[in-house]
Amino acid sequence: MQIEALVVGATGIAGRGVSQELLQAGARVHGLSRKPEGLAPGATHVSADLTDAGSVGKALAGLKPSHVYLTTWSRQASEAENIRVNAAVVRTLLGALAPARSVRHVALVTGLKHYLGPFDAYVKAGVMPPMPVREEQPRLDLPNFYYAQEDEVYAAAARDGFTWSVHRPHTIIGKAIGNAMNMGSTLAAYAAICKETGRKFKFPGSAAQWNGLSDMTDARILGKQLVWASTNDFAKNNAYNIVNGDIFRWNWMWPRLAQWFGVEWEGFTGDAAPLEAQMADDAPVWKRMAAQYGLIEPDLARVASPWHTDLDLGRPIEVMTDMAASRKLGFTAYQNTEGAFLDLFATLRADKVIP
Ligand SMILES: NC(=O)c1ccc[n+]([C@@H]2O[C@H](COP(=O)([O-])OP(=O)(O)OC[C@H]3O[C@@H](n4cnc5c(N)ncnc54)[C@H](OP(=O)(O)O)[C@@H]3O)[C@@H](O)[C@H]2O)c1
Repeated sequence: MQIEALVVGATGIAGRGVSQELLQAGARVHGLSRKPEGLAPGATHVSADLTDAGSVGKALAGLKPSHVYLTTWSRQASEAENIRVNAAVVRTLLGALAPARSVRHVALVTGLKHYLGPFDAYVKAGVMPPMPVREEQPRLDLPNFYYAQEDEVYAAAARDGFTWSVHRPHTIIGKAIGNAMNMGSTLAAYAAICKETGRKFKFPGSAAQWNGLSDMTDARILGKQLVWASTNDFAKNNAYNIVNGDIFRWNWMWPRLAQWFGVEWEGFTGDAAPLEAQMADDAPVWKRMAAQYGLIEPDLARVASPWHTDLDLGRPIEVMTDMAASRKLGFTAYQNTEGAFLDLFATLRADKVIP
């Protein structure tokens, strides 16, 4: 099938992964974002501000995508604002595409906060979600921008007659610069700074995360699932969790990441050691390193997002993800998580993001 793909948020961590897999599958990829930096080679940039309906209408004029991949969000000060802004983005985009009647499928990327609750109520719903999280679990009785985005997709699908799929990754490992949440590049920048300054690579999070089981999502496997769900009729109109397919403990993974960078490490020692505090004074160190090693991004804040890594690794429970819904239907792709990290670190080094 010839896919004329529109990837919305194409330069983000999810959007780049999805764009790359679509290109490998032979699709034509139009990648929408405000700025073109970070677009997957081979994709065509569509420049628009999704919060401005006029800009979206103008950018999409003449474009007739068969498949739309929604991989965007923008972080607001509260969940109420997250809902207002991020639901409107989906409504505006699908509304602008409706008159051309070209869209056959819309795939929406959300995440495990579907089960855990939004950031300002994170795992504080009063009841711990059962683990592993399963697709059939009902929505939490909490406001959540993921639910609002889903509802916009369902309403537009009923109106315009396209099929849909929803994809819920755990923490994503992949390359993106200047994005909001990127544990892989945060740990890479942190380890590089530890190496440069002789500091220990200290696990920032909780006992539950250090000792408990975890899983993660490589941006490539996320992309593979979106391609699969959007091109197989039997997979359509369903929601799918998506993780790599292995489980690990941070007390096993952390020393292995430290070894790749050649830094001394320290595990959980009784108290969390948040990266926001550990890295609070590192911006000038990074700037110097960027000049010394010829790195492409001297602004540490565009490479590392410690707030997000702290939230993830500081969770008071172990979090695991069941893959039953897509596996039952034949989606069997696998990616080992250590390999996902090390591949990313090698890419970041080759691309001069880290020394
Ligand atoms: N990152 C993770 O670890 C993770 C884990 C689980 C779930 N998720 C979920 O995955 C989804 C996608 O997130 P992500 O982390 O991939 O996002 P991201 O890396 O922050 O990327 C966001 C993308 O959207 C674009 N964008 C943002 N605001 C825009 C606007 N006003 N107009 C046009 N384009 C705009 C950005 O490019 P410009 O800035 O150039 O416009 C970028 O391409 C979200 O629902 C997120 O919650 C993420």
